This record gives sequence, structure tokens and C-alpha cells, in this order.
Amino acid sequence: MTIRPTVLITGASTGIGAVYAERFAQRGHDLILVARDQARLQTLATRLRSEHDVTIDVLQADLTQLSDLTVVEARLRDDASIGILVNNAGAAQAGNFIEQSTDSVAHLVALNTTALVRLASAIAPRLARAGNGAIINIGSVVGLAPEFGMSVYGATKAFVLFLSQGLSLELSPQGVYVQAVLPAATRTEIWDRAGIDINTLSEIMEVGDLVDAALVGFDRREPVTIPPLQESERWDVLQTARQGLLSQIRQSAVAQRYQAR
Ligand SMILES: NC(=O)c1ccc[n+]([C@@H]2O[C@H](COP(=O)([O-])OP(=O)(O)OC[C@H]3O[C@@H](n4cnc5c(N)ncnc54)[C@H](OP(=O)(O)O)[C@@H]3O)[C@@H](O)[C@H]2O)c1
Repeated sequence: MTIRPTVLITGASTGIGAVYAERFAQRGHDLILVARDQARLQTLATRLRSEHDVTIDVLQADLTQLSDLTVVEARLRDDASIGILVNNAGAAQAGNFIEQSTDSVAHLVALNTTALVRLASAIAPRLARAGNGAIINIGSVVGLAPEFGMSVYGATKAFVLFLSQGLSLELSPQGVYVQAVLPAATRTEIWDRAGIDINTLSEIMEVGDLVDAALVGFDRREPVTIPPLQESERWDVLQTARQGLLSQIRQSAVAQRYQAR
């Protein structure tokens, strides 16, 4: 019999996180569901317990509050049954940079990046010692596109992609799988919460389709999964171009165009 690791999912009360919870429960994994809305988490947990033979714990936490965050970190550090972290909790924000308040951008960064990297940092050493486990980080295609006009949100998602790629290089030799998932617009509450009218978007993926595709990438152990990207070769070309740039960067020599005459 294979022992399936427990999966801790942040932002599990609705949207992408709730579908991950459902899919991992279907696969027979015990779950720890994290979000602020305790009632919603309990409703989901009750339903999933009745439909699947799994144990589900609910951990209420506001991941922008250090006191709550450290409780989740301690659980990830100490509970050896947890073998998969789904770093999914996140938010978006309407408006352009000068319309957004300083506090609101700081709050977005705290949730989308600080909480995510702290949770990854809490679990990674234990997974590396065990020689197995996985961290799934939910990024966004917006992190590839400053042109989309969501500068702070996109910057947080660029952070998620970079961090995931770096951690994948560091941790995969130690048996730990790290996946970045980059959805495009997906039908969840995130738009409403951010004050963005979903009807202004031309194409929207259904959330079940998104998570099922992300899990295909997970099962294939892809480092980066972009469900809406139709031609995967385009991603490969981008990575090759980026790596080609690195071979051109010479630390000791100023490029000729910057040399004073
Ligand atoms: N939907 C899209 O179009 C889309 C596209 C690309 C990427 N994404 C990314 O996918 C992830 C999930 O988004 P979603 O679309 O499923 O959004 P959603 O439906 O709004 O769900 C967000 C989840 O995060 C939780 N959350 C929000 N603030 C939190 C906080 N301070 N502390 C703890 N939990 C918090 C929410 O629960 P509570 O309110 O109960 O705390 C909820 O469970 C995000 O990282 C998002 O950036 C979404």
C-alpha cells in the first residue's frame, strides 16, 4: 500500500484552492485547509469527508498576519505527514499603480509573496531531509506580461515564477518537486474581490479545467505548467533565449556601448 502524503492547501475556502482540495481528496490524500473564512472551510471539509475516505483539518489563518502565518509555518515544519504544500492563497487588485494606496500594495505583496516564500521555507528543509515531497506555487501569466497593466500583481507573480524555478533547481536533486502553475483568467471570486468586472474579460477558463490541467503537469513533474499556453515550444524558446542572455553577461567587462570614450 502506498502512503499518500497529507496536502496543505492555502486559500482553500473557494476558487482554485477549493478545487485542489476536491481533487486531492479524490486521490485519497488527507488535507489541511487554510484560509480566513472558517465557516466556508468547515463546509468544504464536511462535504469532502462525506464523499471521500480522508481526514481533513481546518486551519483558520490570515496569511498577512505574522501571528497566524507562524502557526501555519510551525505545522509545515513539524507535521511529518505533510508532503505536499499548495501555495495558492492570493489576491489581485484593480486600478493602476498611482490609484492604488501604499498600504494596499504592501498588503498584496505580503499575501502573494511574503506568505508564499515563508511557507515554502518552512517545509522545504524537512522535505529535502526526507528526500521527497512537492511544493506547488500558483503564479499567473500576468507575471510574464507588464503589458497587462497590473504592475504590482504581475510583479508578485513574477516573483512566484522565479522563486519556483530557482527552488526547482535547488531542490529537485534532493528529491523535492517544485511546480509553478501559471493560470490565465479563470472563473473564480478573485475578480469580484478585486473590484474587476469579469465580463470585461474576453476569455475565461473554468476553474475545474484549470486545476485538472495543472494536475496533469504535476503528474508529469513539469517545473512550469501553463494550462492556457497552446504551443509549449514557445515557452521552451523563451527559456533558451533567456539562458542565451546569461552566456553574454560577463562580470568583469563593461559592454562596449557603455565604455567612456
Ligand atoms: N482566477 C484567476 O483568474 C487567476 C489567474 C491567475 C492566477 N490566479 C491565482 O490563483 C490563486 C487562487 O486564486 P483564485 O482565483 O482561486 O481566487 P479566489 O477565488 O479569490 O480565492 C482566493 C483564496 O485565497 C484566500 N485568501 C485571500 N486572502 C487571504 C489571506 N489574507 N489569508 C489567507 N487566505 C486568504 C481566500 O480565502 P478567505 O477569503 O477565506 O481567506 C480564498 O480561499 C491566487 O494566487 C491567484 O493570484 C488566479
